[in-house]
Amino acid sequence: MDRYLGKNSMSSSNLTPNKIIPIGPTPSPAFKDIIGQSPSMKKIFRMVEKVAGSDTTILLNGETGTGKGVIARAIHECSPRRGKPLVQINCGATPEGLLESEFFGYRRGAFTGAVSDKPGKFEIANGGTIFLDEIGDMSTDLQVKVLRVLEEGEFERVGGRETIKVDARIIAATHRDLEEEVQKGHFREDLFYRLYVIPIMLPALRERKNDIPFLVHHFLEEFARKNQKRIMNVAPDAMQLLMSYPWYGNVRELKNLIERIVVLKDGDALGVEDLPEKVRLGEMPVGRRRDAAEGEEGISFQTAVSEFEKALILSALEKTNWVKNRAADLLQIKRTTLVEKIKRYQLEKPAGDL
Ligand SMILES: Nc1ncnc2c1ncn2[C@@H]1O[C@H](COP(=O)(O)OP(=O)(O)OP(=O)(O)O)[C@@H](O)[C@H]1O
Ligand SMILES: [Mg+2]
Repeated sequence: MDRYLGKNSMSSSNLTPNKIIPIGPTPSPAFKDIIGQSPSMKKIFRMVEKVAGSDTTILLNGETGTGKGVIARAIHECSPRRGKPLVQINCGATPEGLLESEFFGYRRGAFTGAVSDKPGKFEIANGGTIFLDEIGDMSTDLQVKVLRVLEEGEFERVGGRETIKVDARIIAATHRDLEEEVQKGHFREDLFYRLYVIPIMLPALRERKNDIPFLVHHFLEEFARKNQKRIMNVAPDAMQLLMSYPWYGNVRELKNLIERIVVLKDGDALGVEDLPEKVRLGEMPVGRRRDAAEGEEGISFQTAVSEFEKALILSALEKTNWVKNRAADLLQIKRTTLVEKIKRYQLEKPAGDL
């Protein structure tokens, strides 16, 4: 599906999908099915097009469900390496003991069960792109080896002596604050700087609420097609609720909800009554409240404080229609401090008229 261009002035009363105008073919098929009309997402699309041609390492950062995987694929598809493999390795989900042989492959007899030679993901990705997902969850031992591949483009298979050279573009992603992980001693500083060449920060969905109607319509259409149903219209008050919910699971959470509604509901209109109670009440998910209050593993103090700070600043900016002097007054901080924080959190005024 094409990306959509909203009406210049999108008020709460005209948020139904049928008021959204398709803009026709997107510049590159790499962006097919990627929705984003907010200034922050448009900036990311431009960035993707700009960096795709080079072999520079990209570090994608953002909360779960913000689209790190989607953007990694778009970078590969926009690059001259499209047509060659895009190999994903999830550093968080692969058992620690298996990661090394997954990455680098092994020689026959390297360990019990290694009955024949096997190439690793780096070798399979030769000529293409390797996507190191959840890089922040990798052990420090493995970090040393990965650093060597990044710096020298070479490695040995587990149990092998022959040095193998690869040419793979690296894209890494994490939901963690890697700088903070470096400070805590969990992530190697040298690897951090090697990865931190072009960082791309994917904004949380609650920071680009104007994208919500477009995403809702896109998913309504996708799941209607898959389930042979008619595409529903969304009642303005339901859309308003969808836009004000904080979506801590980001686009994935929204997508799952729309799928559920399309599958379960028969009818042409999505109304407030179809939304789960937490969305109707605009509640913070229970799990998250508990995390902050009494989570067993605790939460990162710094992350929680930053989240809170960001929310406060956004709310002051919204209240003052982004007049920074007034927002700074409301927050009782200096304008220069506010400007610095807006820059740090990459906050941007929504395009539409909410
Ligand atoms: N801009 C977007 N347009 C359309 N669909 C999107 C967009 N962003 C994310 N999605 C969809 O949302 C879901 C989650 O996206 P993705 O897996 O890329 O997130 P992620 O940041 O990698 O999450 P995690 O950190 O949990 O791995 C996917 O089904 C994806 O297709
Ligand atoms: Mg992912």
